[in-house]
Parts: sequence; structure tokens; C-alpha cells
Amino acid sequence: PLCIVYNAGELVVGPVDDTADTAPADDARTDGPLEIREDAAFAAINGEVVAVGPTDEITRAYPPDNAATAIDADGNAVVPGFVDPHTHALFAGDRSDEFAAKVRGRSYQEILAEGGGILRTVRAVHDASDDDLLANLRSHLDVMLAHGTTTVEVKSGYGLEAETELRLLETIDRAAAKHPITLVPTFMGAHAVPADTDTEDYVDRVISDQLPAVADQGIAEFCDVFCEADVFDVDQSQRVLKAGAAAGLTPKIHAEEFTRLGGAQLAAELEAASADHLLHATAEDVAALVEAAVVPVLLPGTAFGLGAAYADARAFLEAGASVALATDFNPNCHVRTMEFVQTLAVMKMDLTPAEALLAATRNAALAIDRDDGTGTLREGAPADAAVLAAPSYVHLAYRFDTTAIETVVKNGREVGT
Ligand code: NIG
Ligand code: FE
Repeated sequence: PLCIVYNAGELVVGPVDDTADTAPADDARTDGPLEIREDAAFAAINGEVVAVGPTDEITRAYPPDNAATAIDADGNAVVPGFVDPHTHALFAGDRSDEFAAKVRGRSYQEILAEGGGILRTVRAVHDASDDDLLANLRSHLDVMLAHGTTTVEVKSGYGLEAETELRLLETIDRAAAKHPITLVPTFMGAHAVPADTDTEDYVDRVISDQLPAVADQGIAEFCDVFCEADVFDVDQSQRVLKAGAAAGLTPKIHAEEFTRLGGAQLAAELEAASADHLLHATAEDVAALVEAAVVPVLLPGTAFGLGAAYADARAFLEAGASVALATDFNPNCHVRTMEFVQTLAVMKMDLTPAEALLAATRNAALAIDRDDGTGTLREGAPADAAVLAAPSYVHLAYRFDTTAIETVVKNGREVGT
């Protein structure tokens, strides 16, 4: 089926293509790292973008009357659908009381050390039925989609033993079958150490018990580790990620969030797809990640929720990194919208609105190894887009009340908002 989105006052195509050998089109302008077309349209066939250009040309070649999906943007902005490359969106239970305690001075690590935090969510997940878990995930995905997110990475890691880790990955797979959002599953057995368990013993179990079962199940694509003081050290993280890679899972890592432990250097050494958080990354860490083409995924929602300092996004940009943004949505960081994350990136990490949008789209796609055009609206890309109720993409970061998004297109179909 044919899809056409036309009369975009501005259409954000993606990053400026500095490798193109042809001159940019007449209707193209650049705004920082973004290529933008004015009075523009795109057409898609079977969920793939086939043409981008001036509305009159595109509508002549692909008449809206013949399209299964025809969206008149009425002069508003059209952007690629957002990619959220780091979430823990599958959980059960409520931790709002921990939030209240944290704003009164308790720390995240104290709460975890007392069996709260991740370990509390692990207990809630053990007690939840498969259907409840699925319903929770779907309700969160609905919110994400309404806010323009069309691809989401979801981690396991609230099971901490093989049976429940598999159950979480299975639930992600079931949600993926029914929800318009593309889901990217990550195995994160090394998310925390279960109560009364020796860390080395637990790492052994992740490697010899959980990982083979996860590989057998065949759902997970990435393997992630919480490399942090009092959680998994660099050696333990390395063992898990190497075993994961041997089982076919691409490494990812939570690195330098509360302390600088060396996770970023490990990510570079293992050529991980991404290194995430990075609040305490040093100049050497930045250089190593750029050199190894590891995507830095910055999570300003987490810093905001913890009242912590933010990652040094400008250091990464100045070093030439493809900086990505993600929500890190989890019970400790209750943000599902990549719009608010862009607001935080602009207000708290000194990104321009254009840098923030690129970080929330194409660079976020690179963090989950999607280099098929996901996060752009170029020919050949998946037809995933958001039509704004505003004339400029700048409204994504500018507005921090309700959504700036009017209509969402996934694989060339209009999906509910
Ligand atoms: O990325 N740091 C580890 N994992 C999550 C928190 C998960 C939780 O607190 O439930 C994070 O912030
Ligand atoms: Fe996380």
C-alpha cells in the first residue's frame, strides 16, 4: 500500500549527508546537523520511503487519492519517528515511595543495598502474571507511540534467574507481535545481584545458566551489564559481555553512572554497540568511545530524576561522537517521552534542538545497530514519522507540557495517538 505525507512546512530528512556526490536539492536547507526540506512530502510503498521532495512533485507522482494512507500536514513539521534505545519498560509494582524518600535525601544505592530499588521490582515481577506484565508493557508502549516513538529497546533484568529472564524476553516478543512499535529485546541478567548471593557466583550463573537458555530462546539481540561499584566490576562485566558475544548477543553497557569504574574503556575494547549513562566519563573515555565507534547513549531523565549532574554531552559532540538520547524509562526514572528527553538535553546538556532531535532519531538507531535508515526519512528508510501540531521541529524541545505531536506513522500506516 501507498502512504503519502504532504504539505509539510518543514520535513526533517535526517543528518546532513556529507558523503552525497550530488548537490543538495533546491528545497533543502541545513539546520546544524540536520537536513530539512520546506513545503515537502514523502511517499512510501509497503512501509518503505520511496521518494522525498517538494509537495507538488511528490503529489503528482503519487496522488493522495490513490493512497491507503494520505496525511495532509497542513504546513506543520514532519520528523522521523523517535528511537528510544535504552529502556527497562517491562516491570511490575510501584516505587513512588522511593522517589519520595530520595527527594528527602536517601540515595539510590542505599535503597538498593537494603533490598529496595531493582530488587524490589524483581520481587514484584516474580509475583506478577504473564498477562499483567504484558498489559503493563503495552500501556507504556501506547504512551510512547502517542509521543512519537516508533522503535524501542526493552531490557530484561528484573528476573535475575533463567526462568523469569526468559519469561520477560518472551513477554517483549509477545508485545512486539501485537504493537505497532518495533521492539528490540536486550538480555540484562547482570542488572543486579540477587539478595544473599555472592556476586562471583551470580556472574557464573548468568554465564552458564541464563545465557545459554537466552541464546536458545533466540529472542534477545543485545546483552547489557550494570557495570558499577557494588554491582558488577569491570572484570565481571567483561566476562558476561564476552560470553554474550560468543552466544551471538551484541554488547551494551551501563557505564560510569554513579562512579567512574572503567566500563567505557571496556565498551571500547569490546566494540560494544553503545555505552550508556556516562555521567562520570573522562576525556580519555570520550576519546576511546569515539575511536571504537561506540555510540554514547545519554540519559538526562535519569540525572533529572536523581537530582544528579548531567553527562558532558558537548565533550562527546566536540570529539565527533554520534551522541544518542534515550529515556531509560524504569521505576527509578518515570519518563516515557522522547520529547521531554529532548527538552532536558537542550536545557541541561546544552544541545541545540537540532542536535537533540538527531540524537533522538538516527543516532539512537545507531545505538541499536539499525543503520537501514531508521531514524531518517530518506529513500529506503522505514516510513516511521511524526507529524507535529506545530510549524517547526523546535517545538519538540520547546514545549514541555503536553505533546507537540498530532499524528504518528509507523511502517507507512497511521497509528493511534
Ligand atoms: O539504567 N542502572 C541500572 N538500571 C536502571 C535502573 C533500574 C531500576 O532502578 O529499576 C538505570 O538507571
Ligand atoms: Fe538503564
